[in-house]
Amino acid sequence: MCGIVGYLGKDNAKEIVLNGLKRLEYRGYDSAGMSLFDESSHKFVNFKEKGRIKILEESLTLDHSSMGIGHTRWATHGRVNRENAHPHTSEDGRFTIVHNGVIDNHNKLKKLYFENHTFKSETDTEVICELIALYAQKMPSTDAIRKVLKMLHGSYALLVIDHDDPNTLYAAKFKSPLLIGKSDNGMVIGSDMMALVGTADNYLALDDETFLRVTKNNFTLYDLDGEVLPYQMSPLDIDDFSSEKGEFDHYMLKEIHEQPAVLRRIISKYFNDTTIHIDDEIINTIKSHDRIHILAAGTSMHAGLIGKGLLESFSNIPTEVHIASEFAYQQPLLGEKPFFILISQSGETADLRACLVNLKKAQHKVLTITNVRTSTLAREADFALELHAGPEIAVASTKAYTAQIAVLSILAYALSNQSFDLKRELSETAQAMEHFLDKYEVMEKFAKDYLQKPNCFYIGRGSDYYVGLEAALKLKEISYIQTEGFAAGELKHGTIALIEEGTPVIAIISNDKTAENTRSNLSEVKSRGAKTLTITFESLKENGDEIVLDNINPSLSPLLTVIPTQLIAYYAALHRGHDIDKPRNLAKSVTVE
Ligand code: AGP
Ligand code: GLU
Repeated sequence: MCGIVGYLGKDNAKEIVLNGLKRLEYRGYDSAGMSLFDESSHKFVNFKEKGRIKILEESLTLDHSSMGIGHTRWATHGRVNRENAHPHTSEDGRFTIVHNGVIDNHNKLKKLYFENHTFKSETDTEVICELIALYAQKMPSTDAIRKVLKMLHGSYALLVIDHDDPNTLYAAKFKSPLLIGKSDNGMVIGSDMMALVGTADNYLALDDETFLRVTKNNFTLYDLDGEVLPYQMSPLDIDDFSSEKGEFDHYMLKEIHEQPAVLRRIISKYFNDTTIHIDDEIINTIKSHDRIHILAAGTSMHAGLIGKGLLESFSNIPTEVHIASEFAYQQPLLGEKPFFILISQSGETADLRACLVNLKKAQHKVLTITNVRTSTLAREADFALELHAGPEIAVASTKAYTAQIAVLSILAYALSNQSFDLKRELSETAQAMEHFLDKYEVMEKFAKDYLQKPNCFYIGRGSDYYVGLEAALKLKEISYIQTEGFAAGELKHGTIALIEEGTPVIAIISNDKTAENTRSNLSEVKSRGAKTLTITFESLKENGDEIVLDNINPSLSPLLTVIPTQLIAYYAALHRGHDIDKPRNLAKSVTVE
């Protein structure tokens, strides 16, 4: 959600900040802004616009600058307009800030300190800026900023410019992510690694309640009491999956096509010949617990549901799946020795962070499975396993979902006494994915023929039902068709009332034990006018089945059945002319609760 970039050094801050903001576009935003130091007038100039970064780019009147900060806003307080876009500058003109996050006590602070002040924006952010300016009248700016940080409740990633000292930049973080990168030419700060790529050689991911004073060639890290903290930077080696679109029209299509390669890469990272390469400490710790709780949100939660099936059937460990935002405030009974798995593509989801804080307090053991090894959830958990899916840019998650299932299958296998050749089964799955993707364009016709109504259903049983939940989310997210994933047998207990002439119902059938039952449910809706479509496997196919996939190990079927559903969503959105990679109202990384 939203993003921050800052630069100071020998290179052109305008270009670096602008490119950084573009790289963060995928996170979702509704307006953008920058503050750049104008070397001729020796002043900072603010630029901000509602809408896309392109519009901001066209408004920039400076070509060169040695220092600048930038922001993409995903509005939480105040409308989406130019006035509310960041940066915000204090009334006295001395401080300019950009902020990601939410200040929960902004109203209280405004009442306490600024009863007669008229704020220029409706944001919760502006009060931070005014408070810093207020305290800086009586103390050095570092002290003023730290003092204000201690007054804030909520979350923040913050960059602060003191116009009296244009060679210094201040940064701070609490709950919202922030990283600093360093090269021989300068210092760059950003919300994620993508903003640092190409500018920094080394980086440091900041911890909560830390504060930075940054100059052109160095920085000092403090805690909020002003104590200097030691740090160790790491080399910045971004994943070798490209973050460009290449031959594809959209990132989503590219990422759908990357899935066989991601699966092969996961195999190469997690297997030495046929033995699994996961730290013994992780395996032994999980084995010493008697129940697994998986916590996640959205697509990652859907992958967790498949993970539950794999963990229970391969390794016999009872596993429960929870929606993170529910678990954070309604913790269920956990059992005697619970172990926790957090699944998150971004590793930054605030709902999960809220759970993690509580779990750590209660001294539970936590494993994070994530695509971003430098992320907050990876750093703060006891253990982390990486997805190796490469940067996922499209808001609608595709390759991270299949990567999550693949990694969960390997973990479940490592915890079990199973003796089948999982490595081979996963390789065959990658091949079957590729085989289907060779003729991916056929899905365009299905998306067009079947999805002519404003609603749609996916039905299935067991893991097919769970894939249906993910398929429905994907279709909703980017095509805005109201879609439900439904347990096939449950439909007739009420929801079948919604079926009318032409309602699209898509069945996923991968299991020989339940295939007949799901087919009966399909006939029930057909008799009531539904327009049906079946996704199944060679071994289960019947006359008239539209989408038939190569046979693979049935436990791994979600890795394959989900792919046609991703393409259905893609083409449905394409036909409707929607912005596929940046759907309305959504953000890639949901960093507010
Ligand atoms: C996926 O298509 C969604 N945009 C969304 O549901 C996402 O999966 C969810 O917000 C969780 O994100 P995470 O995996 O980064 O934690
Ligand atoms: N809460 C702030 C606002 O609404 C910042 C939002 C963001 O993180 O972009 O302006």
